[in-house]
Amino acid sequence: MDFEQIKQQKTEEINLFLKEFLPEESGKEKVLYEAMNYSVEVGGKRLRPMILLEAYRMFGGKDNAARPFAAALEMIHTYSLVHDDLPAMDNDMYRRGKLTTHAKYGEAMGILAGDGLLNYAFEVMSDAVCEQGINAAKAMGILAKKAGVRGMIAGQTVDLLWTGKPQTKELLDYINERKTSALLCGALMAGAALAGATDAELSVLEQVGVFVGLAFQIKDDILDVIGDESKLGKPLHSDEKNEKNTYVSLMGIEKAEESVRDFSKHAVELLETLPYENVFLKELLWSLCAREY
Ligand code: IPE
Ligand code: IPE
Ligand code: MG
Ligand code: MG
Ligand code: MG
Repeated sequence: MDFEQIKQQKTEEINLFLKEFLPEESGKEKVLYEAMNYSVEVGGKRLRPMILLEAYRMFGGKDNAARPFAAALEMIHTYSLVHDDLPAMDNDMYRRGKLTTHAKYGEAMGILAGDGLLNYAFEVMSDAVCEQGINAAKAMGILAKKAGVRGMIAGQTVDLLWTGKPQTKELLDYINERKTSALLCGALMAGAALAGATDAELSVLEQVGVFVGLAFQIKDDILDVIGDESKLGKPLHSDEKNEKNTYVSLMGIEKAEESVRDFSKHAVELLETLPYENVFLKELLWSLCAREY
């Protein structure tokens, strides 16, 4: 099997177990679970759970203990997208090739489905912590911080505050390291922590995640301008519509592409300094440079 086939197989595996962790749709509040499950199951690359599982494997993890954390991370990531699309934020109507959650279920249910996914992620993780113990507790703490007010939420906040205002590359990096790198750092670090990685190893992975996230967000900003909407599954020109500054608006497509390659190279080279190997993970990180969605 080549890389693409292996990735496809891993994505299908993730989709299967993810389903098991999602809430049952019942009760008077059934529509809440429908909206939550719709947001998650409608599509998505599953990059963050895949990275978490690969980091676990890289550090010697062999069983399914990382699955609840991979599922929880995808719930947290999905909630961040549901809220990012809300009228008060980027006001986008399409995501993952389908209507955004608020466009399908109404704005209030979009807010509640996001709240639900975030909280449910912690219910799933705390059950796993009770079963698995200290490494699992560490992984949950990592994901809480990376998704939290000094992580992803901080990035979304600064992104909003500086909308329509002139920005430097430094400020863009500050935003991107939080709104996008943070969850990718969380994926690498939580997976490795579950397998017993040391704090020194975790801090190397944290820096790898910073580079991966910078590359990933710049590529996202490039695709927002020159992507193919039918592959991307979300509307083009969302950034222009919302007066967002990006690497593309700051330095043009070519220089932005160069930055994607540079940050990806830094990420892979740093990953290679660790005394363990995961060839698939390295290929996965490289493949993000050429992604079309
Ligand atoms: C989109 O993330 C949000 C960004 C951080 C740019 P993805 O491109 O991973 O979205 P899905 O999960 O595949 O839908
Ligand atoms: C948002 O960045 C990243 C999140 C933390 C959700 P964007 O606003 O560029 O993400 P897309 O393009 O809507 O996926
Ligand atoms: Mg946004
Ligand atoms: Mg957006
Ligand atoms: Mg974008």
